Amino acid sequence: MAATLETGTKIRVEGVSKVFGKTPERAFALVQAGMGKAELLETTGHVLGLHDIDLTIGSGETFVIMGLSGSGKSTLIRHFNRLIEPTAGRILVDGEDILRLSEPALRSFRRRKIAMVFQRFALLPHRTVLENVMFGLLIDGVPRARAEARAREQIALVGLDGFEARHPAQLSGGMQQRVGLARALATDAEILLMDEAFSALDPLIRHDMQMQLKQIQSRLHKTIVFITHDLDEALLLGDHIAILRDGELRQVGTGAEILAAPADDYVARFVRDVNRARTIRCGDLAEPGIAAGAEIGADAALEQAFGALARGPVTVRGADGAPRGVLTAGRVLAALAG
Ligand SMILES: Nc1ncnc2c1ncn2[C@@H]1O[C@H](COP(=O)(O)OP(=O)(O)OP(=O)(O)O)[C@@H](O)[C@H]1O
Ligand SMILES: [Mg+2]
Repeated sequence: MAATLETGTKIRVEGVSKVFGKTPERAFALVQAGMGKAELLETTGHVLGLHDIDLTIGSGETFVIMGLSGSGKSTLIRHFNRLIEPTAGRILVDGEDILRLSEPALRSFRRRKIAMVFQRFALLPHRTVLENVMFGLLIDGVPRARAEARAREQIALVGLDGFEARHPAQLSGGMQQRVGLARALATDAEILLMDEAFSALDPLIRHDMQMQLKQIQSRLHKTIVFITHDLDEALLLGDHIAILRDGELRQVGTGAEILAAPADDYVARFVRDVNRARTIRCGDLAEPGIAAGAEIGADAALEQAFGALARGPVTVRGADGAPRGVLTAGRVLAALAG
């Protein structure tokens, strides 16, 4: 998605640490005194889930969180709707400290501002697709006719027209996840939290879902926080990507920035085998200027420009048609070489 969207800040994470265990504050004092995750676990039985995370997530962007199993991805995303509270630090959404929300304000925040799409779909098995998508709206007191109209719109948006009366068990995994997505969209929440939402799908269906999410996002401009293990998925979807290791943030940047300059060996190992020609976008490498020859979209993968580049520099245009600069074979080769 366009990495250059002019965005305000949607979510700010400031110095967030999370210790799991019986006396987290006491254990955290040891961390502040310099104790690492492994020693903390060994000497106190406490788990350092996150350590001193600072992040800014822009309004209307897709922000991907990556890292190996146990690195703290789910712990971090669950802070955003206060399913988990930090041991230290604060989280601001639209400038508001969500740790200070009263009970009723928190309920409203969870219903209206933020929605979650789960890895295992979490649909109600005895209800139809339509009922699943409108369920939250009815709970929220939206009149039935309005809830139904809104649910039908979202079902159409995710391409499930005609399946409204089916039950989840009658649908494939990909279709069930579309229902999960429609349900999250139906709430009209500005923020979508997606924790490994596509990881349970087989590869072709998963790719369809990625493309569909991109398409929906290009229309709706939600703020999406998307967790994945899969670097290709991260590069395809993420305007920015954050990489966590052992509860610490190792790097944040655009996919192109991370591929070009991995912050450390851990990140370098993540990006080593990636197909750069397929994952770096033409817009990522455009330099100021304009060329006489062919043109290509900013969102196109580098490999789509190879033919034209063989004949000379190529002008890159954004989705809005405005020129974004010029792409040269030299710059592309340098990026492919890493
Ligand atoms: N409720 C909890 N109590 C104790 N430890 C926890 C709890 N939740 C998470 N942890 C620990 O915090 C660390 C981060 O876990 P988290 O679930 O956030 O990882 P993750 O990156 O989402 O992993 P995965 O890719 O396997 O989902 C792990 O060491 C985990 O064991
Ligand atoms: Mg997880």
